[in-house]
Amino acid sequence: MPIKIIRADITKLKVDAIVNAANNSLLGGGGVDGAIHAAAGRGLLEECIKLDGCATGKAKITGAYKLPCKYVIHTVGPIWRGGEYNEKQLLTDCYENSLVLAKQYKCETVAFPLISSGAYGYPKAEALKVATDAISDFLLENDMLVYIVVFDKKAYSIGEKLFCDIQQFIDDKYAEQNNGNSLCNIP
Ligand code: AR6
Repeated sequence: MPIKIIRADITKLKVDAIVNAANNSLLGGGGVDGAIHAAAGRGLLEECIKLDGCATGKAKITGAYKLPCKYVIHTVGPIWRGGEYNEKQLLTDCYENSLVLAKQYKCETVAFPLISSGAYGYPKAEALKVATDAISDFLLENDMLVYIVVFDKKAYSIGEKLFCDIQQFIDDKYAEQNNGNSLCNIP
């Protein structure tokens, strides 16, 4: 199956590339961005400093340092402002541009968090729909295994309504505390 929805901590995944929901500075922040930088270590920040930021909807790639994946693709989602400010197109662009980069770097497995659905306020159900549509379009013409990683309980239950077989690698307590250390050896 080319798209899989899983519940996991993206920093633990042994895939070719994980995608970071970054901000325009690419210099780290909270949420998944903070977790990725914390797990990757200082080398990631040093490489990001050289990238000169990233426009909303675009993507840039770096090494993964102490993370178990090979690359981190940093993309900047739109801030939700009610849906009338091109948010859907910009979020679609994040997925497309990240996947094009992954292909250029010969990645066969890529994992995305639900971009923009945390601090940036994009409604989770709509964010998941944009993610699945954009990834499905790409997979029509490309061969790759793409994971959508849901983290919190709300995103998980929305995903569960749309997709019957979500694999869970974490539980609610872990997602709240965000401090476990098991690696996910997903196929
Ligand atoms: N693994 C997978 N998903 C996660 C993890 C994790 N370890 N941690 C959080 N999520 P957010 P955004 C989920 O806020 O909305 C940062 O400060 C989370 O539950 O990380 O794009 C950046 O620097 C949510 O569903 O990203 C920007 O300033 C999803 O990841 C800003 O936040 C995205 O939430 C970007 O906001």
